[in-house]
Amino acid sequence: MYVCLCRGVTDHAIREAVSEGARSWREVRKRTGCADQCGKCASMGKNITRDAIARE
Ligand code: FES
Repeated sequence: MYVCLCRGVTDHAIREAVSEGARSWREVRKRTGCADQCGKCASMGKNITRDAIARE
């Protein structure tokens, strides 16, 4: 599903960024562009990032 409509970032893309080595929300943002515009997706993006890191 889309997490970030502004930048077209999916939950899958966030999980992929973590599996490729991102270890923080900041790094996920850098790699995906998530939350770069309106920022409405930030809390969901952060939660998915946290969950993905916990599963690593
Ligand atoms: Fe992610 Fe707007 S929905 S920046």
